[in-house]
Amino acid sequence: MPDYQRRTLDFWDHTKTLLDRMQSRNGGIMCTVVDSAGRDNIITLGWGLIGPHYRSRPIVVIAVCPPRFSWRFLEETGEFVLAVADDSLRPAVDLCGTKSGRDIDKFEAAGLTRAESADVAAPSVAECLFNVECRTYTKVAPPHMLLTPKHREQPLERQHTIYFAEVLGTYSYTAEK
Ligand SMILES: Cc1cc2nc3c(=O)[nH]c(=O)nc-3n(C[C@H](O)[C@H](O)[C@H](O)COP(=O)(O)O)c2cc1C
Repeated sequence: MPDYQRRTLDFWDHTKTLLDRMQSRNGGIMCTVVDSAGRDNIITLGWGLIGPHYRSRPIVVIAVCPPRFSWRFLEETGEFVLAVADDSLRPAVDLCGTKSGRDIDKFEAAGLTRAESADVAAPSVAECLFNVECRTYTKVAPPHMLLTPKHREQPLERQHTIYFAEVLGTYSYTAEK
């Protein structure tokens, strides 16, 4: 297995790509999570917000609903990495948005490589264009009015929790020869 060299990027140079890739027509973006025992998983996300600032850092907001296997991970550690892929990884993004980590190891199933993140325990994805390391600083549990009226038709236990996170760093990875 090759070692990976980490390169630091400027989050604000990559927000357009992040928002573009998050749209459903582009398949959404992958988000890695970790639980308190160190187990990881990947979930595909299609809803998010970005903006300034928390403690002088950019903010990322995501929504994950309790039936997702990933939800417990976020509740336990609040750490996640937005792993933004190009079109060549579309099958992996689709897999992470249609299969559950309850049944499979998605890194293995999708042929993705874990890279150790700089500041969070959730892994980065070496093959991605860039990885945004995030730590939740507050969350809003349902009932809330932050999503659509259609979402509020669901029973409370199926409605999304909204996680507000500070961006700790943005990185890409290159395999060392
Ligand atoms: C394009 C796309 C966008 C998605 N966006 C979200 C989202 O924002 N929040 C969410 O909770 N689930 C979202 N999902 C659904 C989860 O990715 C899917 O249920 C996944 O299989 C959950 O995996 P897990 O059970 O391993 O956590 C999305 C799926 C796709 C395909």
